[in-house]
Amino acid sequence: MWGPVPSAPDGWTIGGWPLRRKKKAGTESFQIDFTVMNATHDALRRDLEHIATITARLSDDPCRVLGTAAGWEMFKAHLRIHHLAEDRLLWPVMRRALAGRPDDLALLEELEAEHAAVDPLLYAIDAALADREGGLGRLAGLTDALFTGLSEHLGHEESEVLALIDATLTQEEYAPFDEAHRRSAARFVPWLLDGAGKEASARILAALPEPVRQAYAQEWREAYARLDRWSGGSVRRLE
Ligand SMILES: [Fe+2]
Repeated sequence: MWGPVPSAPDGWTIGGWPLRRKKKAGTESFQIDFTVMNATHDALRRDLEHIATITARLSDDPCRVLGTAAGWEMFKAHLRIHHLAEDRLLWPVMRRALAGRPDDLALLEELEAEHAAVDPLLYAIDAALADREGGLGRLAGLTDALFTGLSEHLGHEESEVLALIDATLTQEEYAPFDEAHRRSAARFVPWLLDGAGKEASARILAALPEPVRQAYAQEWREAYARLDRWSGGSVRRLE
């Protein structure tokens, strides 16, 4: 579904701002609780905006800033966990339940193809960040392709797939997907809640088990707040 990765002409700055958010399709009326799914999508969008801001900044070296940002590593890790959970714990269960329904099965194939397009972009961005000679010339085009492709993919899931999941699976069948996100809960939960606002934070926390809520309040929130996520390294600059 995604086009080829564009090359970045000289002086090119990132396009596609502001993020084209698609409204989530009334998931509050669904039987399945999509709180973690929706919050993960919002957190990924938030990080795409940070990446776009760094890449568009001309006053600093975007390769150095993004290449040493803890936020970039966290974004990649949580994106991969989310996509892996969908590919291994959601789509196979859906595929079995939707056997004999070619249109719905084709939709799942589209989503898998969209996932498969992400990793090459992440690798290409990391290669550009590591290339001190010519990486900067490629970075803006690559991050713009990631921004556009991932935004469209998240919107695609929200507008077409959540309703299908809700109509196909039970909460019990869906639960392993949700739980997979909590295997690295100490990092995942504060990342999910980063900048979420009071109301949204309360809603997200209410969807998590009590021990997770307690650990977040007592330890994880403060540890995450101490991280320097986007200013150019998790270690304070010395100059
Ligand atoms: Fe998703």
